[in-house]
Amino acid sequence: MIDSKSREAMTTACSHGGIYSVNPRLVTADFSSNVNPLGISGNALKAIQKSISKLSSLYPDPKCIDLKKGILNYLDIGLKLECVCVGNGATEIIHDFARAFIRNKALIPAPTFCEYEIASRRMGANILFIPLKDMILNTELIIEQAKKQDAIFLCNPNNPTGLLSTTAIKKIVESIDSSTKVMIDECFIELVDGHDNQKYSMINKINEFDNLVILRSLTKSFGLAGLRVGYSVCNPRLASRLSANRITWNVNGVAQMAAIAALKDTSHLANARAVIKKERKYMQHRIEKKMQNFTPCKSDVNFFLIHLKRKNSIKVRDSMLTKSGVLVRDCSTFTGMGHEYIRVAVKKHKENVILLDAMELVDNR
Ligand SMILES: Cc1ncc(COP(=O)(O)O)c(C=O)c1O
Repeated sequence: MIDSKSREAMTTACSHGGIYSVNPRLVTADFSSNVNPLGISGNALKAIQKSISKLSSLYPDPKCIDLKKGILNYLDIGLKLECVCVGNGATEIIHDFARAFIRNKALIPAPTFCEYEIASRRMGANILFIPLKDMILNTELIIEQAKKQDAIFLCNPNNPTGLLSTTAIKKIVESIDSSTKVMIDECFIELVDGHDNQKYSMINKINEFDNLVILRSLTKSFGLAGLRVGYSVCNPRLASRLSANRITWNVNGVAQMAAIAALKDTSHLANARAVIKKERKYMQHRIEKKMQNFTPCKSDVNFFLIHLKRKNSIKVRDSMLTKSGVLVRDCSTFTGMGHEYIRVAVKKHKENVILLDAMELVDNR
C-alpha cells in the first residue's frame, strides 16, 4: 500500500474528513465521518432535553466525577476513579498525552488517524512513520525502533484500515521499555462486530504496564461527535501526569450529562453493531458485483476502505460531491497513503443506497 511516492507524503501534514473539510453546503450525505449509524443515543437525547436549560447557565464539574463514575460502571473492570481522564473528545487527550510525554521522538505506524502526528509535531518531535505492510503492523520493526522513542501510538481498530492483530499489539507493549509511553486508541472498538469485541481490547492490561494509556471516545460509539467527550484509562501515576495541563471545565455540562446517560444505553451499541454488520455486507456485495473501478477492503467495523482502479481519490471525492452531494473520505490526506483509496462509513440502509447510487454514477466515467 505504501510505495516510494507516498513515502514523500510522509513528510506532509495530514488532515481530517467531515463536512467542513469541503464546502459544507454541498454535502447532503456525509460518509467521510465514521460515527454510530443510529446517531445520538436516545437516553442521551432525553437527558439533554430535560436539563439543557439548567445546565447551560451552570459551571460544570471541572473534575467530571459523576461522568468518571459512569465510565467505570460502564467498563466494569474494577478500575479506580484515579485511572480515568476525561477530555473534550479523545482528541484533547491525544494532545495531553503528547504534551506530557513527548520531548523529541514519536513513532507512528502509517496510515493512521492524523491527530497523533499533529500533536507530536506540536511538541517539536521527529516522527518515525512505520508503514503497515498489507494493512498489518510491522511488529518487529516497531519493537526495534520503539527503544529510541518517547512515545508510540497504536490505533485499534485502525482508522482507516480496520482491526489490527491484538497479538501483535500485545507483543509490542510487552517488548518495549516502560520509558517509552504507549497510547492505544480504541475509539472504534465498541463498533466492531460481535458482543464479544472487548477481546480485542488492551484495557484490562493497564495495571500490568507502567507506560500504557488506552483511549476511548463517546463521539463514535454513542454518536456524541458534536458534544465532544472522550476518555482515557491508565495507571493513576500516568493519569496524573496526563491531566497535569488540563484546562479547567474542559468538558461542558451538557456533554457530561449526555455522556452519563449514553453510557447506560448499551442496547444502543448492540443495535448499531447489528446494523453495521448487515449493512456493510450489503454495501460490499453491491460494490463487488456491480462496480468496475471500486474494490471494497475487508472490515469488521463501521467503515471500510475502497481501492480505486484507474481513479484518483481526490477526483472521485469531488465528482461524487458535485454530482450527488455525497461526501466520501479521500484517503490521500492520510500520511503515507497515496491516491488509490477512499474510505466510507457504514450507515442506515436508505443512506447507504444513496452512497452506492452515487458511486455507480462515477464508476464508469
Ligand atoms: C481513531 C480515532 N481516534 C480518535 C478520534 C477523535 O475522537 P474525538 O471525536 O473523541 O476527539 C478519531 C476521529 O476521527 C479517530 O478516528
